[in-house]
Amino acid sequence: MGHEKSGGLVDIQKVGVVGCGLMGSGIAEVAAKANFDVVVREVSDELIEAGRQRIRKSLERAVEKGKLTVANRDAAWSRLRFTTELSDLADRHLLIEAIVEEIGAKNELFSALDDLCGPETIFASNTSSLTITDMAAATGRPDRVVGLHFFNPVSVMELVEVVRTMATSDEVFSAAYSFAEALGKKPITAKDNSGFVVNLLLVPYLLDAIRQLERGVASMEDIDRAMTLGLGHPMGPLTLCDFVGIDTVYRISRIMFDEYREGRYAPPPLLKRIVSMGRFGRKTGKGFYDWSGDQPIPLPL
Ligand code: 3HC
Repeated sequence: MGHEKSGGLVDIQKVGVVGCGLMGSGIAEVAAKANFDVVVREVSDELIEAGRQRIRKSLERAVEKGKLTVANRDAAWSRLRFTTELSDLADRHLLIEAIVEEIGAKNELFSALDDLCGPETIFASNTSSLTITDMAAATGRPDRVVGLHFFNPVSVMELVEVVRTMATSDEVFSAAYSFAEALGKKPITAKDNSGFVVNLLLVPYLLDAIRQLERGVASMEDIDRAMTLGLGHPMGPLTLCDFVGIDTVYRISRIMFDEYREGRYAPPPLLKRIVSMGRFGRKTGKGFYDWSGDQPIPLPL
């Protein structure tokens, strides 16, 4: 693995990741493992520490699973730097944002980075439901803005959706595609529509599982069991909601409903109620299930 193949006139070596939550930490980890020089930016020292520990844990897990040697773990670790300063990203060839799923916050970030970075820096977003075009329009470099949509857990899932807008240049698109390949991922190309390929299919499916639960079609565990045993999915839809984050599923669903105005994307009331209770899934210990013990336990609704 390496970055020698980075395409066209763009030679990506220095990568910046903005946001070190669930997705940002995974993206930073895979980039460091693939020999890129990585700077990760978070807004506070506490969030940097949490992100740093998440990456460290995943690297340890990869060593335990025999996927990474101790020497390569240490080398990856040495290629990662953490900062709270946006200006530390100024020399990056590629910046990937994985901050909160809000267009205002993303546009504000890209607009600030637009002033800080050189004209050749490529801006990528890991958004799952917003459009890349809206972000590109907030910069003075719409031809250098792409989507790089990763899947959770980033170190394990092989897919990256590489998204181009009507303004993305061929050179930038092929550099982003080659970057995904250099990470050891298997990219696909998607047009810039809300949800790209995967979430356009996945989100209505997850919401329908919640509607089944609301209607009492089956119990939480049986809905999940139906999809693991009946279709061979690695996890059922309600477990997957907890895994993705209940707050994230809710936010994505609202953005997609706002975009398409189709009932299939509308958040079910039960989803909203679970969010109101602060049950955001595995990351907070409770979602549909209680994750504090060895086995997930269905929670009352
Ligand atoms: N680094 C590298 N490899 C690792 C690793 C790590 N930190 N942790 C685990 N692995 C590897 C393991 O070695 C194993 O590989 P093998 O099959 O070659 O031995 C593989 O990953 C599976 O690991 P485990 O056996 O520990 O775990 P499970 O078998 O329970 O699988 C899972 C875990 C891969 C998460 C599986 O449950 C799964 O695929 N779940 C569905 C995930 C999914 O759907 N993700 C997409 C969410 S949607 C999204 O992200 C988009 C957003 O926009 C909403």
